[in-house]
Amino acid sequence: IQREMSTLPRIYVTRQIPPEGLKILRESGQVQFELWNSDDIPVPRKELLQKVKGVDGLLCTLTEKIDAELLDAAGPNLKVLSTMSVGFDHLSLDELKKRGIRIGYTPEVLTDAVAELTVALLLATSRRLIEATHEAKTGGWGTWRTLWLCGYELANSTVGILGLGRIGVAIAERLAPFKVKKFIYTDVAPRPELASVINAEYVSFDELAKQSDFLAVCCALTPETKEICNKNLFSKMKKTSIFINTSRGGVVNQEDLYEALSTGQIAGAGLDVTVPEPLPTNHPLFTLKNCVILPHIASASYTTRDAMSSLAANNLLLGLRGQPMIKELKL
Ligand code: DGY
Repeated sequence: IQREMSTLPRIYVTRQIPPEGLKILRESGQVQFELWNSDDIPVPRKELLQKVKGVDGLLCTLTEKIDAELLDAAGPNLKVLSTMSVGFDHLSLDELKKRGIRIGYTPEVLTDAVAELTVALLLATSRRLIEATHEAKTGGWGTWRTLWLCGYELANSTVGILGLGRIGVAIAERLAPFKVKKFIYTDVAPRPELASVINAEYVSFDELAKQSDFLAVCCALTPETKEICNKNLFSKMKKTSIFINTSRGGVVNQEDLYEALSTGQIAGAGLDVTVPEPLPTNHPLFTLKNCVILPHIASASYTTRDAMSSLAANNLLLGLRGQPMIKELKL
């Protein structure tokens, strides 16, 4: 058994991922694997650089930066990388491509959970739920008042989507029953097939800013989208508009957002993602009542995280067998 074991491909798993995925790896009999056995803290970089030496496969999460330094430390055996995330901004794609390393990721299985959370965050922000529970608990609840804690409603509104993909569509599908008047979106180019599902109109970036009562950011973080939500966008938005981001913190210029929120340029923001993560508790955005901040939990449902874990494990095993992965990022 020992002899057999040693000929199996070696993989390193950078996190104690949900049990489904670990079970798949363990029971595959296809790999020998080592695991950073904690979910509470990411593997320290130094340890990671040690552990990846000579591995054939690597299963990581979005907290690990997969760059040239790490790939050099791993060496030429590394042929497959599987990330338990749909986002891939933590991966240096050029470096991976250069080395011919295949990449698995986890789109689709998290679409429902992310869309659901986005709707929850949107409503929490627009109807001021966090402020309201705070007031109720801390004595701010006086008599019923005509304009106290008023917010903005979805009925008859225009909802804008920045970056229309599966998640944007799923958000719109969930918002439509709230009697949204119109969906608009912008992207690098029109996406008629997706847009037709939700009857969304393609508009320019400026029009998206001007017309949206609710603006949901659903694009991936790339060099092109980095800080795309900045002064330029916020200054064109309505004073009554609500900004929601469940994609990546890096798409937002947080100083500009702070300025827009604190000067009343826009009405509120709901963020599930920030730079950095965790956002330091003394960050200025935490001082604003009209900013609801969640700790990157959009995909955090038990079913979804299990599905992501299984998919990441299966992608890795398929990749190591030289077969097409279930979800492979083609470079
Ligand atoms: C992802 O998968 O990229 C999310 O941010 C976490 O689920």
